[in-house]
Amino acid sequence: MIESVGKGRTWVLSGPTSSYALHLTDDDDLLHLHWGPRISGADAEALAAQGPPPSWPFESQLDGREEYPVEGGPRFVRPALSVRTPEVRGTEWCFAEAAVYGDELRVRLADAVHGLDLTLHHRMRDDTDVIERWVTVTHTGDGPDLELLRADAAAWTLPRRDGWRLSQLHGRWAAESLLVRSELTYGEKVIGSRRGHTGHQHLPWVALDAEGATEERGEVYGCALGWSGSWRISVQQLPDGVVQITGGVGHDDSGLLRLAPGQSYTSPVFAGLWSDKGFGGASRAWHAWQLAHVVPDAAAERPVLYNSWEATGFDISEKQQRALARRAAAMGVELFVVDDAWFGQRTSDRAGLGDWTPNPERFPDGLGPLADEVHGLGMQFGIWVEPEMVNADSDLYRAHPDWVQHHPGRARIEFRNQLVLNLAREDVQEYLWGQLDGLLSSTPVDYVKWDFNRCFTDAGWPGEDYPQKLWVEHVHALYALLDRLRAAHPSVAFESCSGGGGRIDLGILSRTDQVWTSDNTDPLDRLAIQHGFTQLHPARVMAAWVTDSPNVQLNGRFSTLRFRFVSAMAGVLGVGGDLTEWTEEELAEARVWVELYKKIRPLVQHGELYRLRAPEGGLSAVQYVKGDESVVLAWLQAQHYGEQPPRLRLRGIDSAAAYEDLDTGALHRGSVLLHHGLHTGLKGDMDATVIRLRRH
Ligand code: DGJ
Repeated sequence: MIESVGKGRTWVLSGPTSSYALHLTDDDDLLHLHWGPRISGADAEALAAQGPPPSWPFESQLDGREEYPVEGGPRFVRPALSVRTPEVRGTEWCFAEAAVYGDELRVRLADAVHGLDLTLHHRMRDDTDVIERWVTVTHTGDGPDLELLRADAAAWTLPRRDGWRLSQLHGRWAAESLLVRSELTYGEKVIGSRRGHTGHQHLPWVALDAEGATEERGEVYGCALGWSGSWRISVQQLPDGVVQITGGVGHDDSGLLRLAPGQSYTSPVFAGLWSDKGFGGASRAWHAWQLAHVVPDAAAERPVLYNSWEATGFDISEKQQRALARRAAAMGVELFVVDDAWFGQRTSDRAGLGDWTPNPERFPDGLGPLADEVHGLGMQFGIWVEPEMVNADSDLYRAHPDWVQHHPGRARIEFRNQLVLNLAREDVQEYLWGQLDGLLSSTPVDYVKWDFNRCFTDAGWPGEDYPQKLWVEHVHALYALLDRLRAAHPSVAFESCSGGGGRIDLGILSRTDQVWTSDNTDPLDRLAIQHGFTQLHPARVMAAWVTDSPNVQLNGRFSTLRFRFVSAMAGVLGVGGDLTEWTEEELAEARVWVELYKKIRPLVQHGELYRLRAPEGGLSAVQYVKGDESVVLAWLQAQHYGEQPPRLRLRGIDSAAAYEDLDTGALHRGSVLLHHGLHTGLKGDMDATVIRLRRH
């Protein structure tokens, strides 16, 4: 709901529990007024009437108060917008118009010297407290091209509080989305990616709390960016204690695009959320918003998949994949995925990327016969691709060496023996469309795992007069290709992968059905990765595999099938072990776990998620609640001194009701579960359990 008050110069956007307000002064300064609990139009007017704080020498009256600080004029904060022509740098705005379109407010400002329009978009849908913000910048004049050095999607302003604390999700390959909390001090904290993709190093999200919020209580502000290329989020604490958060495309301010007269740039969405229900309440609000408005086809349940990457690597054959498919089907798997090495001369990571036709020695009659067998076994059929890349040893590169990102005369740096295709080129876009559309049209494929295994290093484009635009245009081309493929093949689901979790953000999630959370499939490490991941994203998109023990990929750790399954069942379950090596007993046990997962899947994938205890050594647990049902997944890393692990105090259930344990028949009182907790019965090392409860 959007209310417009104060002669139409103050706007209040309200969701179920929160409001957001901005105000245009008589001098046409667009100021931020409020972000927090619900307020009325009259409250917003009272705030607007308060006027500016006292002025101090050397400080700007605008800093920390503007809705969208730009470069130019009396401003010293980090600008969200920076524009230049050969002669004039920075902008000077006049208010042009404001209009409400349903749940979206658009405020348009104009710069007469540049011939530039800036529209600030704010959207708050009725069913959520998440505010979606983005900007559109248009060259409306007939003068020289405008260089857009930076155009952040939004600047978020937080109220003054004592002792802000910053939460972030940092990582690296095989250790993504680890939650860290630290005190925020004066100055700036910058996170982002200079890599051309979202990156393993940070999820584009921050959360701030000031009064010691806990998992279930307290005020939390969060911001998340929907962009899959290089990006930056900057959190500034200004001298007067106000916190401002800017976020958008590109890490530096060195130039995104050049706008010719008539051209526009639209930023991605930088979404914000206020919650007074602690970190858990904020997560649940983020999850609900993504499932309702971001993730495509989110109401559909994701199937249990099998993928042999960890088991077979590049050494695959049709016969071996058929054997694995039969074992997977017998286990209850619903989607069989052929990973890397089915195409071109891809028998190692040195060759074949770019040649998207089946390897004739490995699949003499193409993928059709394997797909048919997989379908005959009652499973869907999926394939792996990495369309944005090419090996130098490939037919594609031999034919088009100029199609990769490179600087003339400089070395073409290879990571994982591969180069990055310049997707900003239309001929490359059309080639990829032809290859992928052809593949999906000729083979009955139900699922595509879309990988991206290296960062940009040589982002040059010889012959192009503004080559750095490829950073932005690569991502736009990727999005356009995915959108076009989804439209042409609506029954095909897509997974975003980038060497594990290197491309997880709201932008890619708006066009993929799930993401590969991490290449780290160690079930213990995964608990921390999943704990971080679910701060922002829902379990419905969080793919997790059960692989072999000892863990082959990383650490050689032994773990029981029970522990591995319960860990992976917290998201979208997959199996990735070498099933030809599993004993009959292991296969039978796995079948039971898969069956159990299917029973709890509606809760895990579409229920409300409560993180009961963080994975910090001892006992950790998550709980999912949907309607009258609830399921608890708990893990004990190590028991000490023979002590019983603590009881788990449940959440989201009715204190007045009784709950039946569906496996033991035991009855529990809701109030006891909420206040005193549930005994898990876990003991020893690396134990795990699933407890299903239903209102009696
Ligand atoms: C990286 C992915 O994260 C893995 O799961 C696997 O698909 C390999 N790439 C294949 O090259």
